Amino acid sequence: MEISVVAGNITQQETPAIVVGMLQGVTDPAGALGEVDQALDGAITSLIEDGEIKGNRGELTLLHTLGKLPSKRVVVAGLGYSDSVSINTVRALAASVGRLLRSKGVTQFVSVVLGAGEGGMGESESAQAVVEGAELGLYRFDKHKTDQSSPQVGEITLIATDDSKIANIESGVNRGRIIADAVNLCRSMANEPPNFMTPTMMAENALDVATSTGIEIEVLDRPQMAELGMGALLGVAQGSDEPPKLIVLRYHGDPNNEENNLGIVGKGITFDSGGLDLKSAAGMLEMKSDMAGGASIIGAMKAIAQLKPKVNVVGIVPATENMPGGKAQRPSDVVKAMNGKTIEIGNTDAEGRLVLADGVAYARSLGITKIVDVATLTGAVVVALGNLASGIFGNDQNWIDTVIQSGESVGERLWQLPTFDEYKDQYKSDIADINNTGGRGAGATIGALIIGEFADGAQWAHLDIAGTNRTSSVDGFNPKGATGAPVRTLVALAESQSSE
Ligand code: BES
Ligand code: MN
Ligand code: ZN
Repeated sequence: MEISVVAGNITQQETPAIVVGMLQGVTDPAGALGEVDQALDGAITSLIEDGEIKGNRGELTLLHTLGKLPSKRVVVAGLGYSDSVSINTVRALAASVGRLLRSKGVTQFVSVVLGAGEGGMGESESAQAVVEGAELGLYRFDKHKTDQSSPQVGEITLIATDDSKIANIESGVNRGRIIADAVNLCRSMANEPPNFMTPTMMAENALDVATSTGIEIEVLDRPQMAELGMGALLGVAQGSDEPPKLIVLRYHGDPNNEENNLGIVGKGITFDSGGLDLKSAAGMLEMKSDMAGGASIIGAMKAIAQLKPKVNVVGIVPATENMPGGKAQRPSDVVKAMNGKTIEIGNTDAEGRLVLADGVAYARSLGITKIVDVATLTGAVVVALGNLASGIFGNDQNWIDTVIQSGESVGERLWQLPTFDEYKDQYKSDIADINNTGGRGAGATIGALIIGEFADGAQWAHLDIAGTNRTSSVDGFNPKGATGAPVRTLVALAESQSSE
């Protein structure tokens, strides 16, 4: 999508559609809305008088100008009350404006910087929100459809009221584009069917990120993992014919300050059949997106490499299928992770914590002291929180709060669940150091605590995104399918660690 910023007046634009914002409760339109109203001989004022336009958050009104303006159409986009306008409001609003116009066959439009100056939001922030909203809301995964003819918005112009404002708006546009591209990369990886998005293809995607941004990449294959003693990851991989990959992306934003580091580790199960503890048909159907955590790491690294915060970030993705092949690991097998801990396999379907055990241990072997892992780990977290919040767990309240705050700043909800020491009794093993499962209760906590066993003194937080990584219907700036959560949280977290 092309996005440009020009100085001018919204009423002078010759385009299929112009977009103006309206605050709730306005009776006498002013500013851009007022100028458009005047050109339309008071049409907007009279719709307000009739009670048809209220300016409620998310309300959209499409008017045809019938030759009264050089633009064919006007969209009046409701912002809600001034003090409640935020980057989240504008992101969602821009998404629905984009989809409305696309549904009318409009492929280019001109918009004001929606919500700028309201709710304490500057023009750069508003522009970022408009771009994020449009790019995220208009995203579509249609590469496997043979008919590629349905219209898509290809061009958006943002209007600056004068030249002096262009640079600031452009910086917001640039941030918005970088972040939306990263989220959409994550979405596309997670939407891709599992016969396309294999561990090898995940590594290819990571390589594209590395070559386009100039960051470092290393991809370990099975023999290299065996050399490092990654028995937990390899145990999961052994039931599949697809070769596993351990993907490592490294961004050096603060090279003279090794202590200023962040490790983000994502579950990359490209298909979770359950293994020998095979899932039901219904349970297996969505398991192509069991690599969404890993995809979020690759997406976030792409944005971080372009936004350049002053912090060193390592992204790690243990990627493999979980399949029930003839060489598959058995329930009751014992495996040994990279750090020497032994794990009894209570259930082969609890594979995420196994690959993350080695992923987190690998981060520790690189000297990483602040870790966040991201995984579609448990059905239990979906029971607890539905799809409105990801579960967050950890071993250090300051670190957990920092991650929650990063999520808050971008409108991605994280809800902390407990990790009381007593829960650890649930995953004791009679014959190994730990078991990979822990009975019926507190399933999301048990999964988290097992991963935490490999954090080895680092500050660590775990995000369970099983409920938030997909949506079954259009929801604000999320189309049906992969949401790209929590890419924006991870990017905000890296920026929060910037020593600049
Ligand atoms: N990938 C699943 C978790 C999942 C379930 C993600 C539903 C998204 C939607 C994970 O590997 C799994 O199978 N977890 C088991 C763990 C159990 C065997 C301890 C679960 O949640 O049932
Ligand atoms: Mn599983
Ligand atoms: Zn899984």
